[in-house]
Amino acid sequence: MDKLKIIRLAEDFAAGKMESYDSGHDFWHIERVRKLARKINSAEKIADTFILDLACILHDTADSKFAATHGNKYDDLEKFLKNSGLDHLKNEIIEIIDNVSFSNNNKTGNLKNPVLRVLQDADRLDAIGAVGIARAFNYGGFRNNPIFDPSDKEKPSTINHFYEKLLKLKSLMNTETGLKMAEERHLFLEEFLFQFYKEIN
Ligand code: ADP
Ligand code: NI
Repeated sequence: MDKLKIIRLAEDFAAGKMESYDSGHDFWHIERVRKLARKINSAEKIADTFILDLACILHDTADSKFAATHGNKYDDLEKFLKNSGLDHLKNEIIEIIDNVSFSNNNKTGNLKNPVLRVLQDADRLDAIGAVGIARAFNYGGFRNNPIFDPSDKEKPSTINHFYEKLLKLKSLMNTETGLKMAEERHLFLEEFLFQFYKEIN
């Protein structure tokens, strides 16, 4: 099967899988991550462009925040890769997807894979800056989490999520290009929090 055809099939597979996710994880998240990854890789030139694009498209298709927990969460993805003649890439793609998320960070210690390094930076960039703030509050709304509890600042809330995760992402960037792009977005998170506290106090 030619590469363009595989990419189109992967887009259809991912769109179907992500239909029930929150809108911070809709197909536009995938499109933004692909674009960011392409930009990072065109400066760094470390990853194979086809595998990178494929991994970007597929990276959220087995998200345990949304996926049903029965069976192996990678079953459908494995089937997709097999049917697309990509059995030889199965282990690599699954390992990348397994390691891309913040919570699984460096679980197997394999951050050497250049596709993983670029994809992880792109996914993290989409979690910070103005888009990241929109996605965080969207996810909080989807779960009906509090925005912030001024009476208990330690209580889980979307503002808390900034400290638990979003503000840490800049220092975790893998590539120089990703880090440069993260700086402006990180500053915007800080400005947002400054204004937020100013308004509630
Ligand atoms: P990763 O794929 O790195 O594990 P997630 O899928 O957990 O990242 O997060 C993806 C998006 O969902 C991010 O924009 C993140 O901020 C948002 N998100 C995840 N958990 C929460 C939460 N508890 N509150 C607000 N936003 C969240
Ligand atoms: Ni993602």
